[in-house]
Amino acid sequence: MADINIEMAKQKLTTKGFLDIAVSPQLDLFLEIERLKKEKNAVVLAHYYQEADIQDVADFLGDSLALAQQAAKTKADLIVFAGVHFMAETAKILNPDKKVVLPDLKAGCSLADSAPGYLFKAFKEKYPGHLVISYINCSAEVKALSDIICTSSNAEKIIESVPKDQPIIFAPDRNLGAYLMKKTGRNMVLWDGACMVHEIFSLEKITKLKIRHPKAKVIAHPECEDPILRQADFIGSTTGLLNYTKRDGAMEYIVATETGILHQMQLSSPQKTFIPAPPTTNCACNDCPHMKLNTLEKLYLCMEYEQPELIMDRDLMITARKPIERMLEISARYGL
Ligand code: 13P
Ligand code: SF4
Repeated sequence: MADINIEMAKQKLTTKGFLDIAVSPQLDLFLEIERLKKEKNAVVLAHYYQEADIQDVADFLGDSLALAQQAAKTKADLIVFAGVHFMAETAKILNPDKKVVLPDLKAGCSLADSAPGYLFKAFKEKYPGHLVISYINCSAEVKALSDIICTSSNAEKIIESVPKDQPIIFAPDRNLGAYLMKKTGRNMVLWDGACMVHEIFSLEKITKLKIRHPKAKVIAHPECEDPILRQADFIGSTTGLLNYTKRDGAMEYIVATETGILHQMQLSSPQKTFIPAPPTTNCACNDCPHMKLNTLEKLYLCMEYEQPELIMDRDLMITARKPIERMLEISARYGL
């Protein structure tokens, strides 16, 4: 491995989205990652849906809003983003002159993919005079076509900050959009997209689980469909769900979101039981296949060789930055 340099590593990326370089099983990846953080003044930002080992080595772990806020203020020279592509893009847009690397360039997002930029542009043109609020789970192209970005932890406040008579397009998540329409009483034009993980939960199986665990509370992410949300005792972003389990008195929870968050729930409340909400089939479809493309090995390799690096068009970054900055400003105003 020592004979591979950064330029050679770049060549290895041509077809794969990650560095396909053998890592010695003897190597202590936890120690190596700590060494690389210091050597390169690197920061590892990770989302709660990452595998437990990645969560454990991260400098900062958070939901999409907190990760964007950290990216906006980091002093690190190298940003290592353990999450999915749109999250790394957001970090790059906020730090156009810094190097942003990610363990696997192909870690995408079904929700972001549901709104290709050219189709969204045509959709937007059908609704002149509408303000576009887009969920952060979208491509940089869609961000550039938006007025304000939001996440699941600030969406309600962002919608409420807009004058009541201002028509709104909300994209790309129809489930989050429908939930927000109910919460705010605002009618919005919705883009018809969804997250493959949050649409897979089985109402029938959750109902059976509730019978078997009568004291368990159901907690759900607002990307879930309405019938699941109706079962929920609490609805929130990943950080919102985690904080709820810390302060709430129940001992058992049925958790309707991606399973990665259970690691932090279990660490902060070891005496409690967390049951992943079951999917409709017998697959592990409540694991996000995109988030789970990242591994500790790939994380180590991307830090060692600074590849794959996220490269973005400058003009696109400038346009996409405005609605993200608006989100950060409004969030700061509300102390979020
Ligand atoms: P939050 O962590 O912001 O709740 O987002 C969840 C999600 O689906 C990220 O892909
Ligand atoms: Fe996208 Fe859903 Fe995976 Fe989040 S959990 S990255 S919204 S596919």
